[in-house]
Amino acid sequence: MPVKPVVWITRNLSTATLDRAARTYDLVVNPADELHSSEEIIKMSAKVDAILACHSEVFSADVVGQLDPRLKIIANHSVGVDHCDLGALHARGIVVTNTPDVLSDATAEITMLLLLGAARRAVEGDGIVRSGNWNFWSPSFMVGKQVSGQILGIIGMGRVGQVMAKRARGFGMQVHYFNRSRLPENVELDAIYHQDLPSLLRVSDFLSLHCPATPETTGLMNSENFDLLPDGAIFVNTARGALVHENALLAALDSGKVAAAGLDCFANEPGGNPAFAKYDNVFMLPHIGSATRQTRDAMGFRALDNLDMFFAGNIPKDTV
Ligand code: DGY
Repeated sequence: MPVKPVVWITRNLSTATLDRAARTYDLVVNPADELHSSEEIIKMSAKVDAILACHSEVFSADVVGQLDPRLKIIANHSVGVDHCDLGALHARGIVVTNTPDVLSDATAEITMLLLLGAARRAVEGDGIVRSGNWNFWSPSFMVGKQVSGQILGIIGMGRVGQVMAKRARGFGMQVHYFNRSRLPENVELDAIYHQDLPSLLRVSDFLSLHCPATPETTGLMNSENFDLLPDGAIFVNTARGALVHENALLAALDSGKVAAAGLDCFANEPGGNPAFAKYDNVFMLPHIGSATRQTRDAMGFRALDNLDMFFAGNIPKDTV
């Protein structure tokens, strides 16, 4: 019998993913779902041919420099690869893949949830009812911001951005976007392209981030850019915490420039930023954009497809 490649599955993935992986590979798994230190990642690299990793494992240049030559591929269970120093990994000849497409629907859904929740004061309303303090109602009570007819600015019109645009159209929003390049007409539909970011920001009643975190986009939403938004804008981030200067967002909330925010991503994860806790106009979730059963299976299967292609001697479809 041919020897099976050894694959380290760093986190507790869906049962369907683990079952399928066990049919093809010798697995090292993590049923306790513990986080791994750099030292553990480096040590494990000498025992495995592949790592099926999540964005919780950081492959910095320093870690990559100490990986064992046995390790040939990191098949990520994520679309984002900002936890991987791609330059360092490519220099070591280690193949890296991601899981595009399969999480776009789930992520757009949670973006819509945050957008609506921020606009219609979900945290505040839930708190009033839950605490037993709901003792008042009037037409002027808890008035929020309606989304229909409003402009949604999307930064990053890739796969998730495009699904988000579709969902927003369903709610009667007008979509505007900023992207590295303009989309073809049949994909762009009625969305309005802005060639520069300030032009998009100036019209965005609502703003949603859908671009990857790269050296170019890190800190993109700084105080200068928040200032360009219309007064009382609603800000949503389901992409990456690194895109936002959190102190600049806090200042924009304090001044009213940003009326409310919906955040699934933070500079510090897990954990988030406790400074947001006192704002009941900030609707927060713990980075669960792709956390549905269906999407977790699809992400696991996509990562396994990439491993299967690699071990069959082909270039994996989602090589980055
Ligand atoms: C992704 O796929 O990048 C999500 O953020 C989950 O890791």
